[in-house]
Amino acid sequence: MSDLSDRAATRFGISISTGEDLPENGTLTGILERRTIRRYADRAVPDGLRKILLACAQSAPAKSDLQQYAIIDITDADRKQKVAELSGTAWLATAPILLVFCADIRRAQRICEMRGKPYAQNTLDSFMNAVIDASLAFQNYVTAAEAAGLGCCPISQVRRDLGLMAELCALPDGVVPIAGLAAGWPAEERDVTLRLPPAVVVHENAYDDTHLAEEIDAYDQRRHALRPTPPDKQALTDKYGIADFYGWSENQARRLSVPDGLTNLRTYLEKHGFNLC
Ligand SMILES: Cc1cc2nc3c(=O)[nH]c(=O)nc-3n(C[C@H](O)[C@H](O)[C@H](O)COP(=O)(O)O)c2cc1C
Repeated sequence: MSDLSDRAATRFGISISTGEDLPENGTLTGILERRTIRRYADRAVPDGLRKILLACAQSAPAKSDLQQYAIIDITDADRKQKVAELSGTAWLATAPILLVFCADIRRAQRICEMRGKPYAQNTLDSFMNAVIDASLAFQNYVTAAEAAGLGCCPISQVRRDLGLMAELCALPDGVVPIAGLAAGWPAEERDVTLRLPPAVVVHENAYDDTHLAEEIDAYDQRRHALRPTPPDKQALTDKYGIADFYGWSENQARRLSVPDGLTNLRTYLEKHGFNLC
């Protein structure tokens, strides 16, 4: 078995037959064994590296070459503290790098204005393109930062109160945060989190979820065997009680059974420059 198929097996907790000896590849290995890191050493990330990582983010592909995203680099300690508070995530205040990735349709509108043309594409599709552009830049940043030895953690919680976050970062209409990103030199060891098996996620030629129930049961068992959830970490026990077997799917279903408490996105977007038709 190649080193890569070993890493893929660790990623899924099942053997992944690649049928041949694949050559070593540091980039692929790094991606296969990546994990989220939430604790960072009290050590700055050099400015040069910060700039290169942002350049890597901007190297992502972008729909129609429009590059419809903005990255807010939160370097000021007071602002970092405020982002931490607004996100309900205290440790963000000391993250060496804290970025807020935003979907941005404002720039395209301004460019049309600058060139004396109407802007006729304020649509749901443009919003989606901007979210995709921002997401690709986000993931490019993560891949680059991890390749450089940093640890990263995406933060959806920056969307808890979009109004306050927009005020804090002076976001104009047409610009909306999609996710925060914390990064720094790792100060914790974490195991790889098992992913859903390819049989559930990858469909050859046509979508087919006939075997979903069995696959999810087996996935729950694999995750449980590696990292069981202690009873005091089960979600919503007041509503659902303590489960004898608490797998990934039970945890997710419990969490999905209640609203997530983030801003009502549609209302916010419609008030702030996005036309979702
Ligand atoms: C869009 C997005 C938002 C996330 N938001 C948070 C967050 O607010 N807080 C957090 O601790 N982790 C957050 N995460 C990290 C996930 O919890 C993590 O990726 C997942 O548990 C899988 O772990 P792994 O990345 O180590 O494989 C987020 C991940 C993504 C992709």
